[in-house]
Amino acid sequence: MKEWTLAERYRVLKDKSELELLYNRTKQSLYRQAYHVQPITGLSSDPNGFIYHQGLWHLFYQWCPWGAVHGLKYWYHTVSADLIHWQNKGIGLAPDTRYDNKGVHSGSGFSEGSDFYLFYTGNHRDENWIRTPYTCAAKVNEAGEIKKLSQPLFGPHPDYAEHQRDPKIVYHEAKQSYYILLGAQSKELKGKVLVYKSKHLLEDWHFAGELRVPGYEDLGGMWECPSIAHIDGKDVLVFSPQYTKLPGRSNNTNHNIYLIGRMDYDRLTFTAEGPYRFLDYGFDFYAAQFAANVQEMDRAVLTAWIGLPDNHYPTENEDWEGSLTLPRELRIVNGRLRQLPLAQIKELRQEKLQSEQELPRVCEIQAINKGADFCLKLFARSDGSGGLIISYDAANNSCLIDRSQMAQRFNRELGEQLTIPLDSPLTNLAVFVDRSSVELFINQGEATFTSHLYPVEEEHTYTVSGELDVAIWTLKTAVSDEFII
Ligand code: FRU
Repeated sequence: MKEWTLAERYRVLKDKSELELLYNRTKQSLYRQAYHVQPITGLSSDPNGFIYHQGLWHLFYQWCPWGAVHGLKYWYHTVSADLIHWQNKGIGLAPDTRYDNKGVHSGSGFSEGSDFYLFYTGNHRDENWIRTPYTCAAKVNEAGEIKKLSQPLFGPHPDYAEHQRDPKIVYHEAKQSYYILLGAQSKELKGKVLVYKSKHLLEDWHFAGELRVPGYEDLGGMWECPSIAHIDGKDVLVFSPQYTKLPGRSNNTNHNIYLIGRMDYDRLTFTAEGPYRFLDYGFDFYAAQFAANVQEMDRAVLTAWIGLPDNHYPTENEDWEGSLTLPRELRIVNGRLRQLPLAQIKELRQEKLQSEQELPRVCEIQAINKGADFCLKLFARSDGSGGLIISYDAANNSCLIDRSQMAQRFNRELGEQLTIPLDSPLTNLAVFVDRSSVELFINQGEATFTSHLYPVEEEHTYTVSGELDVAIWTLKTAVSDEFII
């Protein structure tokens, strides 16, 4: 693994040509995704500024250009007309002011009239590496030009630790006010959400208070990337708690959870109606964000980073890593989120497989379970050994995923097996396989599981035991991956 100096990690990109070689090399990787948004070079992490605006979906990602390392972050911009096919647009926000001199960190989008706005965290550090996070905004006009405001909306709150970031902006119609939810850490090192309020989108912001989330005063040491949406008459609060282990997550200390309940902007209280749940039960899923401006379409769409902070992935050796999940459409059914890939993903289907041997690197698997227990191995070897093991235990109504038999193992110390507890017997399984990821959707989205996976050449087949009916389609490429900086 390469050792990066601070100067290398925080190097400022001056010209597109500085990345050309790296881009050409990255493009040749066997693990480049075919239909998932991925870094043009270097590292991608959180989705940012995800928004539907005037017929187009905009999705930015946290981007470090130089390699598979967290350093100076940019927002890289991609667009789509259908949430399936994505085009590169180039840098959305660069760390080019004193307020974001050490990174343009995560945030959200907001559509108003013919323009839309990006709210982000300016990560400032002084010469002693002391951090000051600023909440900033930029305007994207009809021509697509992005212009930062000259001043931040507000700086850090002195009563909280330096971790204050990832603004999620919402408008409250009845109160005719805008609110920003900010992920934060208290001085007692507890995860919090801070609420700011204004009558005007780009000025007069003031601190309204700390969000009370009864029952969750002690869950983790920092809540990153809060996001909120109204789904089927309920409010859904999503965030990524850190620095804590949670039952069912093995040795991981970074998680992405949701609460269903009611957001009260008068009392600054989110009252959960049930327990917290994991947005996804997989190894690699974090910093999920709802798309803004889709409520009037009666939809909620969410995407996340396929990855976790501090983790390492095999493509580090090729100087790149990361990808975003497929956008998911959400509903609430029986007090739980139902998460499904968008219906139009079917348009990517190419050829239905006849042979029962080869597993394409880019494919969709639809499986119906007619019996009880089953075991499906993806990317097994010709003799049936190895592979990603997906085994269903009907007696316990749970599904075990084991990636320890794959040739390329990674993040082993965090655990290589995870279990998905289910509410109802597993009858239906959809798996979306891309060159370096798998996403499982169980029982029409009752539970999901996302993981990076890096099969080698010898891992090319699949095996099924139990009464599982499997149909497989190869899928078309849907990300442009052009060299646009
Ligand atoms: C989450 C996060 C955010 C931050 C960004 C920096 O992965 O740590 O809290 O804004 O990444 O890249």
